[in-house]
Amino acid sequence: MSGNYNPAEPDPLADAGYREVPDAEGGAAGRGWWDANAEEYLDEHGAFLGPADFVWCPEGLREEDAGLLGDVTGRRVLEVGAGAAQCARWLGTRGAHVVATDVSHGMLAGGLRYDAAEGTRTPLVQADARALPFAADSFDVAFTAFGAIPFVPDAERVHAEVARVLRPGGRWVFAVTHPLRWAFPDDPSAHGLTATRSYFDRRPYVETGASGRVLYAEYHRTVGDHVAELTGAGFLLERLVEPDWPAGHERVWGGWGPVRGARLPGTAIFVTRLR
Ligand SMILES: C[S@@+](CC[C@H](N)C(=O)[O-])C[C@H]1O[C@@H](n2cnc3c(N)ncnc32)[C@H](O)[C@@H]1O
Repeated sequence: MSGNYNPAEPDPLADAGYREVPDAEGGAAGRGWWDANAEEYLDEHGAFLGPADFVWCPEGLREEDAGLLGDVTGRRVLEVGAGAAQCARWLGTRGAHVVATDVSHGMLAGGLRYDAAEGTRTPLVQADARALPFAADSFDVAFTAFGAIPFVPDAERVHAEVARVLRPGGRWVFAVTHPLRWAFPDDPSAHGLTATRSYFDRRPYVETGASGRVLYAEYHRTVGDHVAELTGAGFLLERLVEPDWPAGHERVWGGWGPVRGARLPGTAIFVTRLR
């Protein structure tokens, strides 16, 4: 597919849609896409997320209010797919011993800039969430807000790695796009209120460059798929949080916004514990 790709040349977007791609290609695309788009992403969403704030989702649910991780004081906390580590940075101010990991150097570089601006020092580690460079039982709590899981074909590997590095009984909390959303166009207007695809169609959303290379891949799992992957890795599901769209919240983020937020869930947060 990517035989014509020359890294020295631009590879403009040529195709976007739902289609099967080899797992190795889809799973590897995330790093390059986030490196290439880190600055634009942080320019667009950085003010909403805050440099040292813990916002779970476009609905604006804050960990300060939700308390999904429990009391983190003195706890060893791991963030995977941390991006610029805004959440980890906030947890550090709450007394957690936190480490933020992400596969993208570009996103972590944003974290270094935030640390410089905030006068903080957040431990940042470049790592794929499917191969975490930590010993077994290193953490009490692990979490991600939309990191890693949507971008890999094999999320069961993320769960297995988190299970390995957590202590028995440790908490694992992750937020993803609500699976129901995959049946609807990714459009924040009323056009996005009519289901046009099957919820059960697991083909990823894929963007392809002119060279045929996979530039971006995002993977759909039904609620049942997520639960099967979690329990298969040894986690117990304690809560499934579906944040409301708050009255008066007008900010549009991709397909999220007040029009659809009034009728459809946009985010699913799985709160789990290792057996
Ligand atoms: C939507 S951002 C989430 C980060 C942060 N919570 C935010 O909202 O900016 C997705 C992050 O997942 C990271 N990511 C993608 N694939 C990954 C993988 N296989 N392992 C670790 N991180 C990954 C990306 O680099 C990106 O920083």
